[in-house]
Amino acid sequence: MPESENPAVASAPHPTEPRKPAEPCSIVIFGASGDLTARKLIPALYHLFKEKQMPSAFRVIGFARREKNDDSWRQELRTALDQFSRTKPVDDKVWAAFSKNIFYCQGDLTETAAYAKLEAMLTSFGQAPLRENLLFYLATQPSQFGEVVQQLHNASLLHKNGSGWQRIVVEKPFGHDLKSACQLNHELTRFANEQQVFRIDHYLGKETVQNILMFRFSNSIFERLWNRESIDHVQITVSERIGVGGRGGYYEEAGALRDMVQNHMLQVLALISMEPPVSLEAEAIRDEKVKLLKSIRPLSPADVPKQVVRGQYFAGVVDGEPRPGYRQEQKVKSDSHVETYAALKVFIDNWRWSGVPFYLRTGKNLPSSASEVRIQFRPTPHVLFAAACGELDQNAIALRLQPNEGIYLRFNGKVPGTTLGVRPVRMNFSYDSEFGAYTPEAYERLLLEAMLGDATLFIRRDEVETAWKFVDSIRKGWEGKSLSNREFYAAGTWGPVAADDLLAQSGHVWHEPQVGK
Ligand code: BG6
Repeated sequence: MPESENPAVASAPHPTEPRKPAEPCSIVIFGASGDLTARKLIPALYHLFKEKQMPSAFRVIGFARREKNDDSWRQELRTALDQFSRTKPVDDKVWAAFSKNIFYCQGDLTETAAYAKLEAMLTSFGQAPLRENLLFYLATQPSQFGEVVQQLHNASLLHKNGSGWQRIVVEKPFGHDLKSACQLNHELTRFANEQQVFRIDHYLGKETVQNILMFRFSNSIFERLWNRESIDHVQITVSERIGVGGRGGYYEEAGALRDMVQNHMLQVLALISMEPPVSLEAEAIRDEKVKLLKSIRPLSPADVPKQVVRGQYFAGVVDGEPRPGYRQEQKVKSDSHVETYAALKVFIDNWRWSGVPFYLRTGKNLPSSASEVRIQFRPTPHVLFAAACGELDQNAIALRLQPNEGIYLRFNGKVPGTTLGVRPVRMNFSYDSEFGAYTPEAYERLLLEAMLGDATLFIRRDEVETAWKFVDSIRKGWEGKSLSNREFYAAGTWGPVAADDLLAQSGHVWHEPQVGK
């Protein structure tokens, strides 16, 4: 009987961890007129408020250059919320109560007077925690981080050791290589301790990504199989149906390796393969992630062509819709060699994973948008069923991170009848059917954790630097090399043939992520 059909289980309350509420605080968003505030941050804060997870007192201040007042900004945000809210329609009463706490501070990031104005505004709220407990969200260019932090410090708004708490939240891209990431880290920690810096990787805010550790370490049947003895290889796919679209300018600088692999893909890899942490404390988990990232076998320039494939889409059709090639996208050079796809074969040189290949791939303009981790188990000895059934399908567990979040197990079953037919079957767990639709945006969780001061879902300094070191070694191997013919792919296909060659060397093939329920 499935658990959900067992009345004893179905009627049991879902365990919800009791958490202390976040303390009253002010959230200051720098670069507030950008897309992120309207699309993600305000909708996330609105939902936290709606679900009574915001502190008992709070203020949200948008800091930006454009001329606006509190009312015009609130109206602008409301229009955006109508469009981007995950729950519709927006609740007018909730919005009215929430939006009273939103303010606008017009100013230039480089002007001292603007920070004095911000300080005065915070003081005018009349409650010590709203002036002293401050979450600074830097939705600005990374090149401005240093300036903002220095100005905040000069205006007595940011202290390493002062009253209340001050935290800095920063978005990716966090640097474009190890050197620039170290520089940013240096700038941020001149006036704040590392514990005050919260580096976002929005993948860590996704419920299913958080579930990876739970799944691995709370289930003995899987936990004991999670090693080189049982696992043949692992595939991590993050595919996207969208192309580069209007982000050509950014993409020309970034490419898939910096945009997706350095952060989201390596984070998922770390969670899938790290050792159990000694506790669920942020530092214990992050220590294990760093340890894992450090045990990824480094790639020499000579290894890169053997273990990494890049790709770039040319014109094609996705979902019946014609798509231009990458080189025809706006702000992209007509002879660009920037990758819109990357596939890697990596080895983790530790006791658990020695010799097990981990394949990572990500790309734009692929046939479906899906993120999946597939654990492919070793085959059984080929003796018993070989003559009658031929090659048997290898067992696999797939963790579907998005969409239709869930986990499925693939194994072999006998086809009913008198012959010895065997075919793969699936056991499927779907979040929606088990727990009901629960789809908070990653930013809701991340903003809440930042207000609570829990850094578990944020990237630590050594983590970001270790990830860059690995990614830099790949870029080094690409230096001065153009894409080969086997590295181009038509929009709407599963990537370049070179990526198939990469797996074929070890007798493996890519498995398409399952997007269906
Ligand atoms: C962002 C990348 O970090 O992640 C984008 O910059 C990408 O290029 C996006 O599209 C994917 O995120 P998600 O949540 O849609 O899988």
